[in-house]
Amino acid sequence: MDSVNKNAPVGVFDSGVGGLTVAREITRQLPNESIVYFGDTARVPYGSKSKDTIIRYSRQIVRFLRTKNVKAIVIACNTASAFALNTIEKELDIPIIGVVKPGAKSAIENTKNNRIGIIGTEGTINSELYTEYIHGIDPEATVIGKACPLFVPLVEEGMLHDTVTDEVARRYLDELKEQNIDSLILGCTHYPLLRSTIGKIMGENVNLVNPAYETAISLGELLKKNNIRADINAKPKYQFFVSDAADKFKSFANSIMPFRIDETNRINIEEY
Ligand code: DGL
Repeated sequence: MDSVNKNAPVGVFDSGVGGLTVAREITRQLPNESIVYFGDTARVPYGSKSKDTIIRYSRQIVRFLRTKNVKAIVIACNTASAFALNTIEKELDIPIIGVVKPGAKSAIENTKNNRIGIIGTEGTINSELYTEYIHGIDPEATVIGKACPLFVPLVEEGMLHDTVTDEVARRYLDELKEQNIDSLILGCTHYPLLRSTIGKIMGENVNLVNPAYETAISLGELLKKNNIRADINAKPKYQFFVSDAADKFKSFANSIMPFRIDETNRINIEEY
């Protein structure tokens, strides 16, 4: 690892805009780290696709990110973390992390009654990976998962505060409310953007766990362990790439990132 340029960027990828919630958290916690972000806007959603397809997509994205000389990779997508991380990490010689393990760790550390809910895409919930990690830490914990497939398109359409979103959320979450959970993992990168809606329905006794926060902490630890943290006076550079609809992505990104994004480049990911 010693020959790696410490000020090289971290590669962050997602199926679309959702991973920006993870990138945002990385910029807050690790302000000297540069980021190359890739959003697979041409092939979103990942949540309803098969494991084989998600592994193929993830391999292509990793190959693209490596052309940008990234020093580490964050899979900022729960579905891709659940389906592809184990495979990809065996194929790579740079550090890589996903969002599922950090999210699971945070939930188990914070629950008091050992009853944890998870909401995510169908792929993430059906993979049962969150449950596996949580049971790896505490086999006694009760874990209740619920897929919420309509949340992603509602977020993508910018309907963050909307009566339609409120109604959909109520339908999904009412059954979880009856389960007496005290922690709810927002197990999809889009869901932190619906935090206020979800929080209103679940009530103040349910702690909403945003895996993005814990992922940024894990990334900091991983970079430190590998001795590749950026210098403390390094000026970060943020680059954004997508596979389609670059302008739409850019205006969404500008609505949630704490700095202005002037350029988003479209690339043909199928070439990688
Ligand atoms: N980013 C995906 C995730 O966190 C959600 C969007 C999708 O289905 O592609 O699971």
